[in-house]
Formats: sequence, structure tokens, C-alpha cells
Amino acid sequence: MDLKAQIQSNKLPNHLAIIMDGNGRWAKQKGMVRVIGHENGTKSVRDVVEASAEIGIKNLTLYAFSTENWKRPKLEVQTLMKLLVKSLKKEIKTLQENNIRLMAIGNLSDLPKKAHKELLEVIEKTKNNSHMTLTLALSYGSREEIIKVIKELTDKVKNNIISVESIDESIINKHLYTHNLPDVDLLIRTSGEHRISNFLLWQIAYAELYFTDILWPDFKKDNLYEALIDYQNRERRFGKTSEQLS
Ligand code: FPP
Repeated sequence: MDLKAQIQSNKLPNHLAIIMDGNGRWAKQKGMVRVIGHENGTKSVRDVVEASAEIGIKNLTLYAFSTENWKRPKLEVQTLMKLLVKSLKKEIKTLQENNIRLMAIGNLSDLPKKAHKELLEVIEKTKNNSHMTLTLALSYGSREEIIKVIKELTDKVKNNIISVESIDESIINKHLYTHNLPDVDLLIRTSGEHRISNFLLWQIAYAELYFTDILWPDFKKDNLYEALIDYQNRERRFGKTSEQLS
């Protein structure tokens, strides 16, 4: 049976998040410069977005650029920003045709003007699409996001808008960049690295983690299906016992 046919539509992760890693190593293995890895990485982005929408995943979040990525060589940062603009221009039509809403999380005002403008335009144009929400994490860092929440909440307490006692998970969720997204159910990281790298630390509290050695430019639809099948065979207990679940 093909992999896609093995996926159970009633057990899909409501929110799938992916750390797309290994573009640089993919290029190096082939004797090419790192930016060629990123260019090929965009093809995997396309494949995974298409596959996710086809299967019926409602929320897909991709770690496209971290706050730490600004420290990379200037040329690489510029290329990543150019690729973002190029992909947004190229894919707006596909997003509309497939009823996909684009959103972004992170310190978006850090982005170069052109990328920022293009991004906001696509977000605006797709805001009423409802089949799937594709969220790009751009200039995103989870600790920075948590600091933002703490500052906003302390400010509200100081101005008597909320009380200290009223602070709970739901208030924190409302102040995160991801306020309109559910918790992450499945987090995939490619390229053999087993770490989280400051991605959605609060939101992955109960996520299933899936690591694969495949480098991001080689990660295609079948690799996503394999990850989903693995996820569907796990028992998510959320702190309870197996017996309590059945
Ligand atoms: C990690 O590989 C990848 C990134 C830092 C950027 C991801 C970007 C893309 C896939 C292309 C653009 C995205 C969009 C949404 C249009 P790495 O460079 O860290 O690889 P390495 O660990 O092998 O060096």
C-alpha cells in the first residue's frame, strides 16, 4: 500500500510544525554553495505545503528564519530574503487556488522593507482562506516571544487592566504570536539534529517530536507521510495512564 493511503484522516495533527534544517550541508555534499541549498529548500517547502493541504492538515508552521539567523554571512541573509520575496510572489496564486491562508510570526519589522511589504500583502490577500493556515516563522525566537508576553502582561497588571491572579495559560496563549493557532501536535526536524533551537518552546509542551536524518532539500511528500504514520502510531497520554485513555 502506498504511504499516503496509510494515513488516517481522523488522526491528523491539528498543528504540524517543521524545523527545516540541512540546506547548507545538502549543498556542501554536492560541492555547491550554501545558497543553492536554500533554493532547493524552497522546492521542499512547496512539496510539504501541497501535501499537507491535500491530506487535510489545518495548521502548518515552518521555521524559515530565526532571530539568530541574522548573524549569518550577509550574502546568505540577503539570498534568504530574496528567496522569500520570490516565493511569495510566485506562490500567491497557488495559495489562493488552494484556499490557504498565510500568516507570519516573529519580529516582522526586522525584515527588509521589500520582504516585509510583500509578506503583509500576501497575508492580507489570503486572510479569508480557510482550508489550511500556513504560518512562516520569520525573525522568530521563542525566548524573545516569551519576553514579549511577560512585558505585555506586567504592563497590563501595572495599569490595573488585569490582576496577577488572573494570569493563566489561556492569557499567556492570547499574548503569544501564535494566539490564533492551537498547540503543536507534531514537530518535525530534518537533518539529524536533535534540538529545538528556540522554536515554539511554550507551544510544543505536549508535542510529539520526530527527527529524521534527511536533509531539508531532500524532504518530500513521502517523507512527510512517513512522519505522519509514525505520529499516528504513538499513544499521546498527556500525563494520563494508558488505561485511563481506553
Ligand atoms: C536551515 O538550513 C534552513 C534555513 C535557515 C532556512 C530555511 C529556508 C528555506 C527552506 C528557504 C526559504 C523559505 C521560504 C519559506 C520561502 P541550514 O542553512 O541551517 O543548513 P545547515 O545546518 O546544513 O547549514
